[in-house]
Amino acid sequence: MGTPQDSNRTQNNRVGASTTLAYLDPQYWDERFSTEEHYEWLKDYSHFRHLIQPHLGPSSSVLELGCGNSQLCEELYKDGVTEITCIDLSAVAVENKQKKLLSKGLTEIKVLEADMLDLPFSSECFDVVIEKGTMEVLFVDSGDPWNPRPATVTKVMKMLEGVHRVLKPDGIYISISFGQPHFRRPLFEAPQFTWSVECSTFGDGFHYFFYTLKKGRRSPDDKRSSGEKLERPSINLYQDELEGEDYLFRTNLDELNC
Ligand SMILES: C[S@@+](CC[C@H](N)C(=O)[O-])C[C@H]1O[C@@H](n2cnc3c(N)ncnc32)[C@H](O)[C@@H]1O
Repeated sequence: MGTPQDSNRTQNNRVGASTTLAYLDPQYWDERFSTEEHYEWLKDYSHFRHLIQPHLGPSSSVLELGCGNSQLCEELYKDGVTEITCIDLSAVAVENKQKKLLSKGLTEIKVLEADMLDLPFSSECFDVVIEKGTMEVLFVDSGDPWNPRPATVTKVMKMLEGVHRVLKPDGIYISISFGQPHFRRPLFEAPQFTWSVECSTFGDGFHYFFYTLKKGRRSPDDKRSSGEKLERPSINLYQDELEGEDYLFRTNLDELNC
């Protein structure tokens, strides 16, 4: 598709999935990571650094969900965040990332094989949880995005409940996503969560969404989950977004601002 992300790959090493359903298969990721060195889903850190920086400090403890072979944790480390834990379901991704970090002397960053639907951490132990394109995986068999399958909703809520649990009382969850607010907000704003939900966009052409969920900051008078009916947007994708893997992740709906 000619996106900047494609430059991450060697030409003969294009590991594609013909359907997004493959993303639900842990073996797909293991095979992919056994040959692919680096690929950034959505955009790399430089594109959203200005949005993430205000939420991080040198003493922040950060959990990254589904790190894959992204360089996000290295970029955060370079920016002064040293207490970072990355998880991924793929043993291959974890092993490769551990080796890479070791070769760069970044031994403070922890990388663990773990499922984001069953986080192996005690409650209230992270200042920030970040995920870039990882929650997306849970939506690939969601069916109609306006009315996702109950099984999808159950998995997403399990993940969000885990994130909410491991965040400190004033912790922040950052979700960097293709998912438009009209699909994400009803889930993020479920009544059991105490976080406020803010959304920004970044990127040229197609907008990517940067959600900031601040635990304990939910306004008592917010109108979440009011059952308000949302209008369906029309289809309107940029032609150069129509090819390539990132597109596979998106629903066939247009982009909307937050
Ligand atoms: C679309 S990639 C995103 C990778 C990376 N965050 C990035 O921005 O380039 C999704 C990643 O999530 C991982 N993953 C899928 N399901 C997961 C789960 N249940 N728990 C943890 N990681 C998972 C995959 O192995 C893969 O590395």
